[in-house]
Amino acid sequence: MYPELQFFPLIIHATFARLGTFPLLKEGRGKIGVKQFCLLFVTCIAPSSLSNGPTTSNIPEKTFLLNLPLWISNGFFFYFSSRKYIAGAVCKSTAKLNGKVVVITGGNTGIGKETAKDLAQRGARVIIACRDMTKGETAASEIRTQTGNQQVIVKKLDLADTKSIRVFAENFLKEEKELHILINNAGVMLCPYSKTADDFEMHFGVNHLGHFLLTFLLLEHLKKSVPARIVIVSSLAHMGSRINFSDLQNEKFYNRNLAYGHSKLANLLFTQELARRLQGTVVTVNALHPGIVYTDLIRHSILLKLACKMCTFFLKTPQEGARTSVYCAVAEELESVSGKYFVNCQPAYIAPQGRNEATARKLWSVSCELLGIQWD
Ligand SMILES: NC(=O)c1ccc[n+]([C@@H]2O[C@H](COP(=O)([O-])OP(=O)(O)OC[C@H]3O[C@@H](n4cnc5c(N)ncnc54)[C@H](OP(=O)(O)O)[C@@H]3O)[C@@H](O)[C@H]2O)c1
Repeated sequence: MYPELQFFPLIIHATFARLGTFPLLKEGRGKIGVKQFCLLFVTCIAPSSLSNGPTTSNIPEKTFLLNLPLWISNGFFFYFSSRKYIAGAVCKSTAKLNGKVVVITGGNTGIGKETAKDLAQRGARVIIACRDMTKGETAASEIRTQTGNQQVIVKKLDLADTKSIRVFAENFLKEEKELHILINNAGVMLCPYSKTADDFEMHFGVNHLGHFLLTFLLLEHLKKSVPARIVIVSSLAHMGSRINFSDLQNEKFYNRNLAYGHSKLANLLFTQELARRLQGTVVTVNALHPGIVYTDLIRHSILLKLACKMCTFFLKTPQEGARTSVYCAVAEELESVSGKYFVNCQPAYIAPQGRNEATARKLWSVSCELLGIQWD
């Protein structure tokens, strides 16, 4: 009836694009609200159906030409809105980190590398702790070139070997006077059943026990450098798991999905127990889920690798995945926030088994026992 109406969404989109925003999403929120959905319907769908009257349907070429800008604009609109939604919230802090020392495990690739890059960009001295020095040096040199920050250093750390963790910590304590931010980022997922050098199941040993020991060894340095922060990269996978104290090393039953979830649940319980023990110290500890990010983490599953390759559009890039880690490391509003879990730069829901104090305390003492350390 009113073919001109078809240009209405185009005008609306152009206006919003001109204003630097899209109606569907608000910067930093990553959520589609009812209002945004209604706006989308009114601007995109309703005019198209209204205009499909006899006037245009009688002249097909004219309809096509009239619809073309509409489809193009809607295509762009949907593409950018969806990508923005998938990318999630951004860390808006502009905090500078000149003079601050950061240690990040697994900073040679994926989320860790992007986190290291962001923190280097802010002026921090970044120590990439990784098991493969060649990969680490390649990443560090790329970060140095891109950020202009020459204070990006690589140190050897194999979280699957407590001797390597102790050597790393010993050298670090000798060489560095302070430590302001510790990011426990490294991780393994879906490994075939295997054990660390100390006979711990690989997921539990690397993702939980390795970081538990590292944090223990570096904690006094963090306390000397207050305000200091510990950031622990956990996962949404904590939700489908339980801590099975009678078979912590999965010797009786092994499922690699459960083993990963188990280690990420341990990360969360550790975060909360550590936060309780650090009360009054100005050292905070928070955990996070980075989102579903396309990285090398899936290297042990051919099926997942294939699925992710086909669905890259729906996955976060490592840079987008690093946003919540960076947020927990620098956001001014988190200065005194501790023991929390963040997703998309916002506090998030923790499954009941992930906030059970008794389990967290028990896991703490069992971890100390397994590692042969005394940590009260
Ligand atoms: N990607 C996701 O969708 C997702 C979702 C939820 C949580 N996470 C968590 O995010 C963190 C980062 O993962 P990512 O996705 O960035 O995966 P990634 O690209 O595979 O990075 C994992 C990092 O951990 C390192 N690492 C593994 N085993 C190690 C060991 N024994 N000692 C020292 N470093 C070791 C890897 O080193 P190499 O390069 O030498 O292997 C690599 O640098 C992990 O804790 C993961 O559980 C990821």
